[in-house]
Amino acid sequence: MKHRITLIPGDGIGPELASSVVRIIEASGVDIEWETHYAGAQALEKFGETLPQPLLDSIIQNKVALKGPVTTPIGKGFTSVNVGLRKALDLYANLRPIRALPNVPCRYPELNLVIVRENTESLYAGLEHVVVPGVVESLKIITEKASTRIARFAFEYARREGRKKITCGHKANIMKLSDGLFLDCFRKVATEFPDIEADDKIIDNACMQLVMRPEQFDVMLLENLYGDIVSDLCAGLIGGLGLVPGANIGEKGAMFEAVHGSAPDIAGQGIANPTALLQSGILMLRYIGERESADLVENAMLKVFEEGKVRTRDIGGTAKTAEFADAIIQQMK
Ligand code: NAI
Repeated sequence: MKHRITLIPGDGIGPELASSVVRIIEASGVDIEWETHYAGAQALEKFGETLPQPLLDSIIQNKVALKGPVTTPIGKGFTSVNVGLRKALDLYANLRPIRALPNVPCRYPELNLVIVRENTESLYAGLEHVVVPGVVESLKIITEKASTRIARFAFEYARREGRKKITCGHKANIMKLSDGLFLDCFRKVATEFPDIEADDKIIDNACMQLVMRPEQFDVMLLENLYGDIVSDLCAGLIGGLGLVPGANIGEKGAMFEAVHGSAPDIAGQGIANPTALLQSGILMLRYIGERESADLVENAMLKVFEEGKVRTRDIGGTAKTAEFADAIIQQMK
């Protein structure tokens, strides 16, 4: 089956990573027609806006996008590309699988957990105003609708992927109404999934437990701000942001992206690590039903890590981005 997918290479290291990842994905035999679009600073230069309408139309039509990192120009009036895309497509669930890779030095080589983050509400709504000079109010929005929707997403994901337990992180002891509502919705939805264990932890304790005994977590369900912070914390437990994939999923479609930025300090040198974007691509292949290709790419990638001969500079090697991609493609043959 032929798939049409929107590709946003991004800027900085984005295009170098995207070309390697596209090469690897295509070598798996999957039939994809890529529609390439600019976003962010590049799009601003060419089209006068960071999120041009043709890009949005392409994603709305194709329902799936793979996105490299994008530099959001600093200054007033620019929509953050990431936030803009999430809003335009109502990509309400952010999924971040955290799994250590063979031979990558990290604190928890056995770690394998998944973060499900609510992507549309909480303090991320950015509703702030000055009440009087010197006093600012920032609104934390939590709704029953969005909290129930994300809880159901987490339980359905856990069931589909054979996960056993979901831990909801919250601060309902202090924010009794907002986090209380998020927790209530989680508990209500949990009753529909008796096969999945439902647990909850106050977020500060959850952070300490993550650092001390992360193996007790399987799936974590978090509102937007906690999810943002805790998912980076978890990336740190397994070797850093250059390795972990991300997916933003909604009813109208899904966007798969590396969670690191455009790394201007190493852009153009061909030395960036494509693993995060590649792992996002693997999630994308599973999402579009190409499980065989996903397994093929994943196993080849894991083999290259296991052998440890071809490693990019950020994890102690000397290989260039393209050499790392070549090694994975060679493994698939
Ligand atoms: P960054 O993630 O781009 O870089 C932080 C450090 O990690 C740098 O030393 C960089 O060289 C290194 N690094 C990042 N990805 C790497 C990779 N794949 N391989 C090897 N090394 C890697 O974060 P920074 O510097 O804060 O942000 C740079 C730009 O990226 C900013 O304009 C920011 O707005 C944008 N950004 C975009 C994101 C996205 O599009 N999803 C996410 C985060 C930042």
